[in-house]
Amino acid sequence: MSSIVPEALSKIKQLCVIGSGQMGIGIGLVAARYAKVQVQFIDNSQTQLETGIKFIGKCSLLDKDIAKERLTPLEKTEILNRFTTISDMKDIKSPDFVIEAVSENLNIKSSIFEQVSKLVPRECILASNTSSISITKLASFVPVPENFIGMHFMNPVPVMKLVEIIPGLQTSSETLNITKQFAQIMGKTVTVSVDSPGFIANRLLMPYINEAVIALQDGIASKEDIDTTMKLGTNVPMGPLTLADFIGLDTCLAIMNVLHSQLGDSKYRPAVLLQKYVDAGWLGKKSDFAKAYDKVSHKDNNTLNTICGAWWWLLKLVQRLFKKPKMTVRIGDQLLPNVPYKCGLRES
Ligand SMILES: NC(=O)c1ccc[n+]([C@@H]2O[C@H](COP(=O)([O-])OP(=O)(O)OC[C@H]3O[C@@H](n4cnc5c(N)ncnc54)[C@H](O)[C@@H]3O)[C@@H](O)[C@H]2O)c1
Repeated sequence: MSSIVPEALSKIKQLCVIGSGQMGIGIGLVAARYAKVQVQFIDNSQTQLETGIKFIGKCSLLDKDIAKERLTPLEKTEILNRFTTISDMKDIKSPDFVIEAVSENLNIKSSIFEQVSKLVPRECILASNTSSISITKLASFVPVPENFIGMHFMNPVPVMKLVEIIPGLQTSSETLNITKQFAQIMGKTVTVSVDSPGFIANRLLMPYINEAVIALQDGIASKEDIDTTMKLGTNVPMGPLTLADFIGLDTCLAIMNVLHSQLGDSKYRPAVLLQKYVDAGWLGKKSDFAKAYDKVSHKDNNTLNTICGAWWWLLKLVQRLFKKPKMTVRIGDQLLPNVPYKCGLRES
């Protein structure tokens, strides 16, 4: 904190957070609380905006801190009073800093930056919370790419200490310095990565999560055993499948697709099962389908296991009759017969 230059920080009074999903809300909360800036949330979903603001109001973290006398009820009210919401970007208040946290999709993000860069002052810094998309590429959609940067917060933002900062090729050193200072004022520790797919965190984390989904898909172990092995065996707070649910399977898939397409190595190919879950709308904890999915997965498991069992006995019979050598059988993602079909990352 001692290295912070007050002149640079005095530049940021008004922050705009685009996207009020799980990341945007967390970013807005730490900015309002620790950097004491006004925060304007923009989301094209009114429901998301309302849910996000309600979430902050009820945020148990703030109440816990009041109980521990780290925060007063008055300070909580002041934090809440720093928020405003809009669903139409044209109503944006002239911000000094914008952090975009919409879905991990180049087309959505580039179109947002094209629009917002026309509505903000020229000196405004534009940051993306992308998990994997090229900052240099995103910067090419704005008129002042020197003021564009990657600011990758971790989930959940109020709890996780790290912000990865990614300057693009065109990012100026002033933009990099102010962004570092802003993250530090929010109470975060900063690391810097060059602009490479997945940066540091997701270049390492996502192949690990993807491999866990492949292990599940190949019937190597149950989801409980995969998670327990990694949790107790490598001392991480949660297993990779629970972590995937927590991040959002759509986000995990989008990141794997970026790693695969940008780095071109087949080791980054997304698991077929991951794609299937996203196609089904089973995105993990943020998905409303979670409960239905648990039920469906149970039912499907039973049905599938019965079908798999029947196929197995039929094949055994054929093998015996014709005395053929042992066969390895695979239907879709599934090895038969002794591998129980498991199609849920979530607890069921
Ligand atoms: N989930 C994580 O663990 C995590 C961690 C670090 C970074 N990120 C990154 O943060 C970003 C957001 O992730 P998230 O988990 O908060 O996703 P999310 O699905 O929870 O939220 C995305 C939000 O963007 C909004 N949105 C979509 N299109 C929009 C548009 N055109 N205009 C305005 N709002 C729009 C949606 O309504 C939603 O509220 C992604 O780029 C993701 O890769 C996610």
